[in-house]
Amino acid sequence: MTLNVNEYLQGNFAPVQEEIASDELVVIGELPSELSGMFVRNGPNPRFAPIGNHQWFDGDGMLHGVFIHNGKASYRNRYIQTRAFKMDTEAGRALWKGPMEPPNFDLPPNNLFGPFKNTANTALVWHNRQLLALWEGAEPYEITLPNLETVGPYDYHGKLGSRFTAHPKIDPQTQEMIFYGYAVTSEPYLQYSIVSPDGDLIKTVPIHIPAPVMMHDFAITEHYTIFMYLPLTFSMERIMRGESAYLFESDIPSRFGILKRYEDNSSIRWFEALPCYIFHTVNAYETGEEIVLIACRMKGTTCLDIPTKFNDGQDDRPSLYRFRFNLRTGAVREEALSEIASDFPSLNQQKLGRQNRYSYTAKMASEQRPAFIFDGLLKYDFTNNSSQEYNLGSGRYCGEAVFVSHPNSSAEDHGWLLTFVHDTVKQVSEVVILNAQDLNTESVARILLPQRVPYGFHGIWIPEEDLKGL
Ligand SMILES: [Fe+2]
Repeated sequence: MTLNVNEYLQGNFAPVQEEIASDELVVIGELPSELSGMFVRNGPNPRFAPIGNHQWFDGDGMLHGVFIHNGKASYRNRYIQTRAFKMDTEAGRALWKGPMEPPNFDLPPNNLFGPFKNTANTALVWHNRQLLALWEGAEPYEITLPNLETVGPYDYHGKLGSRFTAHPKIDPQTQEMIFYGYAVTSEPYLQYSIVSPDGDLIKTVPIHIPAPVMMHDFAITEHYTIFMYLPLTFSMERIMRGESAYLFESDIPSRFGILKRYEDNSSIRWFEALPCYIFHTVNAYETGEEIVLIACRMKGTTCLDIPTKFNDGQDDRPSLYRFRFNLRTGAVREEALSEIASDFPSLNQQKLGRQNRYSYTAKMASEQRPAFIFDGLLKYDFTNNSSQEYNLGSGRYCGEAVFVSHPNSSAEDHGWLLTFVHDTVKQVSEVVILNAQDLNTESVARILLPQRVPYGFHGIWIPEEDLKGL
């Protein structure tokens, strides 16, 4: 296995050292008066020099928040003070290697579920007026707003019985939160949970899968939950032999497990599809007797330098894809929607689980290395299979764009797209705000940030009315 130690510590992947707060940021253009709230994004930012092979996914979680109100913007960034982060800080060095390395069982426990470091670095969820920072291998961390301070690990008053995906789903109608946790070192390899609208973890059930896999996302519809059992397998034997723990097994089919939201493993139905890997789903919904799943699908993956039984250099570039699972006949239909490589999807969250017309994804740059470099945004219209691209311009790269609905929304795409952008020529970072209804127009506004913001993972928008009384 060849690992480039440096590429995820260089350029705008390099961590920043300072935690700062800054008001009255320079804005180019005009911030809409209706855009009022806080945009927070999570991502890896190693506090100390990594030990062992370092991957982008490994660093300590850092939150970057931009508060927008009355046409003005302020910024702050804070580390997520996880238990492991505090132990590293006390030791003055990194104690944990990344999860692609054999774990060190001599270290004290840093989370409820295993020997790997809970960095809390991947995503955020806002549910029951509580902000949680998420890493899929362990428990969430509770974060304060608007200060982004860490309260501590959160286990639902002792009820949390599994790890917690970085991609829980909140049903826009019921306000329930649906999540799962997957384990790679012991059974059950998959558990499925529901949190009530008022934050009570009401149910956790095991779902049987025959072997551990990396399962980064899932999907819900109004009545169903869809799990993705894809052939990116984990093996402790491989890791202890010094090989990669993960292997993409391109000769094993993909399997999608569909069950009604409140049911359990006894009623799950599995559908087989071509081998593939999916980090992120766009959405799923019901239409007649079919469940439709739209996802950023790749034929396989070599990301994280995971070995694979094929590698033609293009197969690991994700693009929009539609699956149709027929609940009556068991048939599966698969269809590529776009040739354009893109990932980190978002949509109007009011359409989650329902048929949506639009999705927004980050468009991958043509550079093959490092992986996950995005030079624009893609808006896809599923009604006529057309797309619009927004190109950031030479040397400018973004991450996931979060869709923010206009408070007086009159259409699914009536709102804005917010994304962190880094200009590698000018060496400045910005938040760029686009009119989601037309990506062919200039940006609505650009907020210049007082320090570099490294490339990161997933963000969230919290409307100002939700921040009141916190
Ligand atoms: Fe993700």
